[in-house]
Amino acid sequence: MTVRCGIIGCGVISDMHAKALSHHVDAEIMACADLVQKAAQQTAVRFSIPQIYTNPRELLHNGDLDAVVICVPPKWHAEYFLEALAEGKHVLIEKPLAMNLAEADRMVDATMAGNRIVGVALIHRYLPAYRILRDMIRGGAIGRIMHSRISLGCDMYNDTRFRAPDEDPRSWLVDRDVAGGGILMSSSVHFLSAISYVLDNVHIKSVDAKIRRLHGEAFPDIEDDIDLRMELASESEFVLHDSWVANQPFQVDFTGDHGRLTASGPNWSCLKVSGICLGTVPDSYAKNMNGTEFRDGKSHRSDISQSCFDCLIADFIQSINQGVPAVDMPNIIHARNMQAVIDAAYRSGVKGGAEAIHWQFEAAREAQ
Ligand SMILES: NC(=O)c1ccc[n+]([C@@H]2O[C@H](COP(=O)([O-])OP(=O)(O)OC[C@H]3O[C@@H](n4cnc5c(N)ncnc54)[C@H](O)[C@@H]3O)[C@@H](O)[C@H]2O)c1
Repeated sequence: MTVRCGIIGCGVISDMHAKALSHHVDAEIMACADLVQKAAQQTAVRFSIPQIYTNPRELLHNGDLDAVVICVPPKWHAEYFLEALAEGKHVLIEKPLAMNLAEADRMVDATMAGNRIVGVALIHRYLPAYRILRDMIRGGAIGRIMHSRISLGCDMYNDTRFRAPDEDPRSWLVDRDVAGGGILMSSSVHFLSAISYVLDNVHIKSVDAKIRRLHGEAFPDIEDDIDLRMELASESEFVLHDSWVANQPFQVDFTGDHGRLTASGPNWSCLKVSGICLGTVPDSYAKNMNGTEFRDGKSHRSDISQSCFDCLIADFIQSINQGVPAVDMPNIIHARNMQAVIDAAYRSGVKGGAEAIHWQFEAAREAQ
């Protein structure tokens, strides 16, 4: 069945969703909305979208639409999301899910009360490197995981959103009232999500956060450099360093009692997996090992970030057509739990010391 979709928010990220939807055989983009008419018009022209709105509510009330994709800044996520569900739409929403945990919980309640498909664009799980790491760890390649770590940094102060926020319409990123926070909300949420996915949706139990405002004079309201140490239910720990100040390559490390695995690269979308595995390497990866690099033997598109959105859209449309959420699609409970980690990190940063996380288990897991 063709799923008739509308897009709310016609900025940079909506383009990735629109491209993916326009290539999908079972999807059609029927409408788009943006407060800025020119933005809506440009998207409509680029993707041959027949209807445009400057009032997103009119799109939400359009009875011809089956699904909406919400691509506005976080401040409006909960409001549009709740209205979309009330209108009976399936919803794909951008990250971070909400401005805080209380909002996220309201969004979960509304989802659970209905029967619509909901997906969240925590797309990093669609990166080939994370799938390789997950398969290898599940297969026992490095034994029991004792320690995991992600570190990365990119100097955002060269970006016009930071350099000249008054001139850049996308500078909502440095406005806590619109973005909900700084680097934790906009960037780190992806890496929390990725680690939870690689370790099989592991429960993060507590977080101890060091939250810095290294450019606090210019941007006193947003954190731009963080260190998080998390206790995991699997009796191991996860450490994250994420920075908008220091330029440093992307590195992911897992240390197990039978070896270690590393994924590294210049940025999050170009990761190569290598390691020393004294456990059982799944057959498919052993065969595709090239030197020290583990590959999955599939051919991957050069535009890795677009391919993540293609996978997400494919899962979303398949979920709607089959009436059940695709297994790997980032779901609302997962996104809500990531918000719980972020809220706890902010509390920890203020008070000092570890903060417990109010985790919510997915229904299937609770029954186990
Ligand atoms: N999944 C990812 O990897 C990823 C990457 C970047 C951004 N994002 C998320 O996507 C969302 C949008 O980010 P972006 O980079 O595209 O921002 P953007 O500034 O490029 O685009 C946002 C668009 O929304 C419009 N808008 C703002 N408020 C609105 C409202 N109340 N109603 C309707 N339209 C409104 C703006 O006019 C703009 O055209 C954010 O939640 C952001 O966190 C996700």
